[in-house]
Amino acid sequence: MNTPQEPEWLAFTEAQPEAPGDGRAFGKLILAGEHAVVYGHPAIAAPLPALSALAWVVPGEEGVRITSEGYSEAATLETRQGPLAPLAEAARDALARMGIDPVALPPLHIQLASTIPAGSGLGSSAAVTVALVRALYQFFGFPLDPTILQEIATEAECIVHGTSSGVDPAAVSATGPIRFRKGEAPHPIPLTTSLHLVVADSGERCATAPMVRKVREAIERDPEAQKTLDALGVIAPRMESALVASDLAAVGTLMNEAHAGLARLGLSTPKLDAMAQAARNAGAWGAKLSGSGGGGVIVALTPREKAGAVAQQMQEAGATAVTYTRIP
Ligand code: MEV
Repeated sequence: MNTPQEPEWLAFTEAQPEAPGDGRAFGKLILAGEHAVVYGHPAIAAPLPALSALAWVVPGEEGVRITSEGYSEAATLETRQGPLAPLAEAARDALARMGIDPVALPPLHIQLASTIPAGSGLGSSAAVTVALVRALYQFFGFPLDPTILQEIATEAECIVHGTSSGVDPAAVSATGPIRFRKGEAPHPIPLTTSLHLVVADSGERCATAPMVRKVREAIERDPEAQKTLDALGVIAPRMESALVASDLAAVGTLMNEAHAGLARLGLSTPKLDAMAQAARNAGAWGAKLSGSGGGGVIVALTPREKAGAVAQQMQEAGATAVTYTRIP
């Protein structure tokens, strides 16, 4: 059997927690329904434990400071602008919901580190937010209700992306595949067969907000774009039935359909198309972009024995990093 090449992402060193208040969240994959989920359709998503974000709380020197690896500036609880503003908002919200008055707090330092590349469709912003909220609840010894976590993280995501269906926070805090619909609790999907997935990074980066805006503008001016979005919206229920029936060939076909629809909406790139096609040529049942698009990753569903060839072909098509994951 061909084995995937040493996956670069797994070689990243993960920061270790240094204090009792630590929280973690995973990366995420969307198998069906991105963008359509913003308009109330269901999506199917899963955590990607090969990549994760970590937050930990330690005694600080003055007030509450939030720092994140890769950002030189720190945030405080007063921060309302800049890249760390969503994290400051999540921290304010979490403290308020725990009934903690920030003025009465001892100095605290909330630190964040993540192996999830930003702008790659892997849920990086949702994961750091979920990790931060989990760390704060853990530090103060409060039980964290999943609905509260989802509400806090979705509000923070709205600051980052302009709008958020909540699928990313739900997926990065899940323990397995979920069906997600905006405003509803995530529904776990029971699997009787493992999914072998190869995730390949195009190296192209794109923020979520402009892609969500692009879709909104397209459906406002073009009835064909609306039809494409509606067609994307009915893929998730069909995929859920195929998953429950362990019909992985059908799941793959639906992933190909999803990629084609997303591409029609202008969300793919030549490199993503080439990587998806390379995965199919190497024997994957299906391959699609995952997340908001405009760059980021291709996720391919493959028979286990083809995983190595699929990884290799995607690398030859230009993937800058490849990892393999099995669910469950
Ligand atoms: C991003 O991972 C998924 C989108 O559907 C946005 C959202 O649902 O919040 C593009």
